[in-house]
Amino acid sequence: MVWRIRPFRNPDPPQLVRLWNLALVGRGAAVLPHVNCLEQGVLSKPYFDPKGLLVAERDGQLLGWVHAGFGPGSTGQRLSTEQGVICVLLVHPQHRRQGLGTELLHRAEQYLLEHGAREIYFGAHNPLRPFYWGLYGGSEPSGILESDTDARPFLEKRGYQIVATHIVYQRILDGRACEVAGPAATWKAQCTLQVIPKPLPSDWFEVAASSPLEIVRFQFVHRGQVLAHVDMWEMELFGWRWKQPTVGLLDLSVSQEHASSGVKAALLAQSLEYLEEQYYTLVEMHVPESAQHLRRCLRDLGFEMIDRALVYRRNIRP
Ligand SMILES: CC(C)(COP(=O)(O)OP(=O)(O)OC[C@H]1O[C@@H](n2cnc3c(N)ncnc32)[C@H](O)[C@@H]1OP(=O)(O)O)[C@@H](O)C(=O)NCCC(=O)NCCS
Repeated sequence: MVWRIRPFRNPDPPQLVRLWNLALVGRGAAVLPHVNCLEQGVLSKPYFDPKGLLVAERDGQLLGWVHAGFGPGSTGQRLSTEQGVICVLLVHPQHRRQGLGTELLHRAEQYLLEHGAREIYFGAHNPLRPFYWGLYGGSEPSGILESDTDARPFLEKRGYQIVATHIVYQRILDGRACEVAGPAATWKAQCTLQVIPKPLPSDWFEVAASSPLEIVRFQFVHRGQVLAHVDMWEMELFGWRWKQPTVGLLDLSVSQEHASSGVKAALLAQSLEYLEEQYYTLVEMHVPESAQHLRRCLRDLGFEMIDRALVYRRNIRP
């Protein structure tokens, strides 16, 4: 036995942060400057269980870690262990291809199964996103990014299949106009953009999972009525990797009545203009691969596809 696998202990964070920065070098992992980031995005969650974060250790040095957890039950007010998710798996670059990643994966699966999981996912995604929002994946957790190229062949060989795909779009704010045409242009001229703090969700799990991100809401108002809204947060840690002030957009919602009337495009166009005035230079948004209308809308506004986020699931034999 060349390493020992054990649950998380309180003195581990400095080594975890060092390992994270060494092992996760793709575009979609934040550079962690300090243990506080790990504290806020992972360890402080009310449902954090040290037994779900397993580290591989040899002679006091951490060589890799894996972290599994659970999502909310149907009301969002408590944890459900029916579905488990492995959020992160990483091995020090100098200790790969020795079987450690496989052993960590199996130990995380075992943890989930012992707690009653009937489905095992790999890649945090809505609503199974207990940890790492703001640290991995970009504007929202939508799975494992394709740009982390080690993950897919590794997981597929170990029985995982892709069950959901999101397209990661980015738009550079470089002074280009956010032009919209037809009904969208009329809505853009007639509606007002209100910027408010996102109302606190009633869902306990969502509050815990998204904390401490400060999420702001852009409301699109016409004659006192809110027609649509989209949320945004400042992606500070990702901005350091990408070397520009970046925001993430998420949870775009349009009233049923205006679903296909150009309101969506008008809201996004006004939001981009507002963000540019605030000196942000990059915007990211994740969209389900099947959401063709929204994808077309983003392309028309100058967004480009820069990555894909993949959710994996492993079949469990009954
Ligand atoms: C994905 C990752 C965790 C795999 O870790 P690993 O320790 O290299 O995994 P393993 O050693 O168990 O398996 C990797 C390969 O090495 C091979 N291998 C295992 N033991 C070996 C040995 N003694 N000699 C040679 N090859 C070996 C395995 O067969 C496997 O190849 P296969 O997938 O074709 O079967 C690692 O590449 C990593 O940390 N990547 C960056 C982080 C990342 O992208 N994580 C996923 C998203 S969070």
